[in-house]
Amino acid sequence: MKNLQLDGEKKRIFSGVQPTGNLHLGNYLGAIKNWVNLQNDIFSIFSIVDLHAITVPQEPLKLKSSTHEVAAAIIASGIDIDKSILFNQSLVKEHSELAWILNCVCRIGWLNRMTQFKEKAGKNKENATVGLYGYPVLMAADILLYKSTHVPVGDDQKQHIELARDIASSFNNMFTSDNEEDFFTLPKPQIIGEAKRVMSLRDGTKKMSKSDASDASRINLTDTKEEISNKIKKAKTDPHPLPSTLQELKDRPEAHNLLSIYSSLSDQTLEKVLKEFSGKGFSYFKPKLIDLAVETLNPISLEMRNLLKDTNQIDKVLKNGAQKAREIAEPVLKDIKNLVGFIN
Ligand code: AMP
Ligand code: TRP
Repeated sequence: MKNLQLDGEKKRIFSGVQPTGNLHLGNYLGAIKNWVNLQNDIFSIFSIVDLHAITVPQEPLKLKSSTHEVAAAIIASGIDIDKSILFNQSLVKEHSELAWILNCVCRIGWLNRMTQFKEKAGKNKENATVGLYGYPVLMAADILLYKSTHVPVGDDQKQHIELARDIASSFNNMFTSDNEEDFFTLPKPQIIGEAKRVMSLRDGTKKMSKSDASDASRINLTDTKEEISNKIKKAKTDPHPLPSTLQELKDRPEAHNLLSIYSSLSDQTLEKVLKEFSGKGFSYFKPKLIDLAVETLNPISLEMRNLLKDTNQIDKVLKNGAQKAREIAEPVLKDIKNLVGFIN
């Protein structure tokens, strides 16, 4: 394995996905597709973040099967487990330990600004778990435990990475003196591609999400060809032909979303896709999008099904990944404990 030790200018990627329900096209285009591309150039660590998942109630058996499914989806999408590290977060205890230390660095005022907490807690904030409130601190711990430099995510996670930067910089100020090199480099969000925020197929103003009550709102990585086709056929549109400029897409969220999905799936810029379809109706565009989506996603779902036949093998992969992750995490946490003043 290359670059296990971080020296000098080396880049290192960390990213995570929660094992809560099926992965969908938003997870794929916003995150996993980029992970697959980046892993060849930058040493990467990917985690199935089960500690994050339990910040809202989870059914234990379902949590296990979702962890298997997400692992299978990541491998089937092209993550190479010999080149990159893949593991489930709870197998590396250093994540929880560092989260506690960072809880004592992060300020309540910073967490109060987090929009995802407000969305997830809803009206009943008093009843949300302390874990849901502290979720972004655990996420900062995930990233900083490996001294990661780059974090490829969808647009919705940008605020959390900015918080991780604030925590890292505050830690540096508290524990490294002026004449020393900063302990943490500040991690950068990598929000890449034309589908940074994939929207619901039923409402172009709402994010595509695992928790949407309507299955028709999202394309799951496990969907069959027929399901993909039906969902795109029924996807909400507007009555106008497709425009030729980005400006004209501004007030057309559904058209914007479907065209962005097309451009991300075909690795073309949105401008180029607009040129191709300008003046055409959705009845012309949708069959092309269906073909492209099926062509990309079908091999992934077939491979996922194949991998899921042997969940013991998936467990082995995750445990092996966790062992490699700990080789990096343990010495970093030891240094952190030392800086904080713990005897260890
Ligand atoms: P989650 O399912 O919330 O754990 O998200 C895993 C990854 O997928 C994160 O990098 C998210 O930013 C990304 N993601 C989730 N939903 C979307 C979406 N609708 N569009 C783009 N990226 C998304
Ligand atoms: N919070 C992220 C999400 O829901 C998942 C996540 C947890 C993550 N830890 C991370 C992403 C560290 C990037 C880096 O999408």
